[in-house]
Parts: sequence; structure tokens; C-alpha cells
Amino acid sequence: MTSFETVGDVHVAPNLEELTDAAADWILTRIRGVLAERERCSIALSGGATPGPVYRRLAQDALDNRYDGSRLDLFLADERCVPPDDEDSNAGLVREHWLDIDPRPTFVRPRGEAADHVQEAGVYAGKLPDALDLVVLGIGPDGHTASLFPGSDAVREAERRVVYVGDSPKPPPERWSLSPRALDDARELVTIVAGAAKSDALARALESPWNPLETPAQLARRGTWFVDAEAASALTRQSR
Ligand code: 6PG
Repeated sequence: MTSFETVGDVHVAPNLEELTDAAADWILTRIRGVLAERERCSIALSGGATPGPVYRRLAQDALDNRYDGSRLDLFLADERCVPPDDEDSNAGLVREHWLDIDPRPTFVRPRGEAADHVQEAGVYAGKLPDALDLVVLGIGPDGHTASLFPGSDAVREAERRVVYVGDSPKPPPERWSLSPRALDDARELVTIVAGAAKSDALARALESPWNPLETPAQLARRGTWFVDAEAASALTRQSR
């Protein structure tokens, strides 16, 4: 059983550019390590503004033959219940930054175009591997991660691996998210955080008493963290 109390490695970068490269270097090392032992590597990706440059750098790594992109299975850690061509779609973000390479990774997403969004959560869950090799996460100023928001019933989910969220405080309101169980089952978690607006949430995620219902980002506490100096400004301890 994973020890949620332990804090994983926290890497603080001086600026966003160095944060992007440090996170991409670490993920590349994980990809190469998995592919040295197994045929394929599965990664679930988050949306938002922060990770796009990291995905772009990793796409370039595949083009530079630093790993075989055709042996990568990409998934979404969360998705908005919108069609893939909608500007709010995380699938669109991944497609823009990581799927325009050859050979391209496989990409499995929950289908925003599906008529029944609640049913689609189960359909997507059935496409996930039992244990993802890596989940790439961000956090919001409120301490959410993926689409697990403070106080949400989704944070209490102990069985299902994908949850439907109908009342996201971060628009758009309808989303799917990996559940706490899916995060717990993942082999590795990495959370990438930038900006002063996240400093309090990051300090709660890493240093406040264990209460993931209040700060869902604590669910990734055991993982590795890449943060910039602004986001780290409220941490009482920093590893470099
Ligand atoms: C989403 C994201 C979300 C994101 C955080 C941070 O679909 O909204 O997955 O969980 O990771 O809100 O977003 P930023 O990177 O834009 O700060």
C-alpha cells in the first residue's frame, strides 16, 4: 500500500523555462527506463496552461530518436466533456503538442462527443491499464489536481478508476477525472507547478496534515514535484 504521508522529491527551478526542461528530462528518463524493461509505456496527461511546453519538448525528444514514440500509450488524467476539437479539450492540447510526430504514440481519450457522459466514464476506465506507468498532474490555486476538486464526492471515490464530475468550479463544469484509486495504482506520479498563485496550494499539498478532501493535490504527495521558485515561495523546506 502506498504511503501517502511521505513526500516525494521536490525539484525547484528558478524559472518556467528551466522548470519545463527539468520536468521533460525527468519524464524522458522515466520513459526510457520503462521501455528498457517493457514493450510499451503508458502515461496519463493533464491539461491546463503549464504542461504544454513539456509535452512539446517530449515530442521533440521522439523526433530526435531519444525514445520510440510508437511504443508510448498516452491517456488523459482528466478531460472536459467537450468534443476533441473544442478549445477547452485536453485531447486537443495533447494533439497539438505531442501527437503531430511520426511515429506517433497511441492516444486513448474519454469521448466528449459521447451522448452519455456518465456512461463514458466507465467506458474510458475500461480502456486504462491496471497501473499507468506515469501520471502527469498540475494543481490549481484551490488545491485541485486533475479534475478532483476540494470537497467533491469524486475525491471520496475508492472503487471506480474514472469519475464523472458535473459541477467543476473550474469551467467547463462537466469533466472526467482519474480517481484517487487510479492515482494510487499508478507506478509514478509527477506534478508540475508554476506561478505564485499556486504557492499556498503547493504548501498545503506538500506540508499540511493529510486531508486530500480539502487539498486533492495531496493525492500526488508521494510522487515527484517540479515547481518554479514562485510556486515554491510558501514551502518551509525545499529540495534542490
Ligand atoms: C484541467 C487540468 C487541471 C490543471 C490545473 C492546473 O483539465 O483543468 O487538468 O487539473 O492541471 O488546473 O492548470 P494550469 O496548468 O493551467 O495552472
